[in-house]
Amino acid sequence: MLVAGNWKMNLDLAAARQLTSGLVSTIGKTETTLVAICPPFVDLDATYNILHGSGIRLGAQNMHELDSGAYTGEISAPMLKAVGCHYVILGHSERREYFGETNESISRKALQAQRHRLVPIVCVGESLAQRDGDRQNAVVEEQIRQSLSGISIAKGSELVLAYEPVWAIGTGRTASPDQVEAMHTHIRSLLVELFGQKNGYAVDILYGGSVKPSNALELFARSNVDGGLIGGASLSVDDFASIVRSAESAASS
Ligand code: PGA
Repeated sequence: MLVAGNWKMNLDLAAARQLTSGLVSTIGKTETTLVAICPPFVDLDATYNILHGSGIRLGAQNMHELDSGAYTGEISAPMLKAVGCHYVILGHSERREYFGETNESISRKALQAQRHRLVPIVCVGESLAQRDGDRQNAVVEEQIRQSLSGISIAKGSELVLAYEPVWAIGTGRTASPDQVEAMHTHIRSLLVELFGQKNGYAVDILYGGSVKPSNALELFARSNVDGGLIGGASLSVDDFASIVRSAESAASS
């Protein structure tokens, strides 16, 4: 199980330090669940210093596909490694929608992340219109094939997939456990096709979209759901810690 918090464009340095300290003391050591937080770039260094030794890992929300150069405003994989990042979220639907990210650019970024031993959390998910047209499986399949084009893995732990239906992100409207399980099973069979039985099963598939303490357990209990990518609820110590406990319970049952 992996529970990752996506803070998005929230929390300045002081607030980031406060939340991170609260998470370290409240979550403590986990048995079966990996925990990560993905703060804004300017909070990474300070939060890493607080996380260090706690077992909670650090991730970034995006990165550029090249090492360095004249790309004003961008952040590279080596920079993220240097401040202690383990993960990087790639292709979040907000990046796809507002910043023009495409499957092709996401696959270049995913390759770059792997080159620098960052674990990409590659996000996919259909829009409401696509779900209403019953096209979600085809849409997600195309996103996965194209966003992971050229990627190979020797171990499942080198890649994480996050299924986040766009209509469930930040809306309070969560996909039903049946919808989530059906999509995750579809994604699992694709991962097995792409990476083989052993590695395909070892890649964690996270669900994201209005996960909260009240629905985390029923989602995490479903097969092929290996944890969650948490937006809004990751900004509260109590909510995020409760979601982590749900992952622990789901893994042990
Ligand atoms: P949400 O966001 O939990 O606030 O819906 C999830 C995400 O965008 O990763």
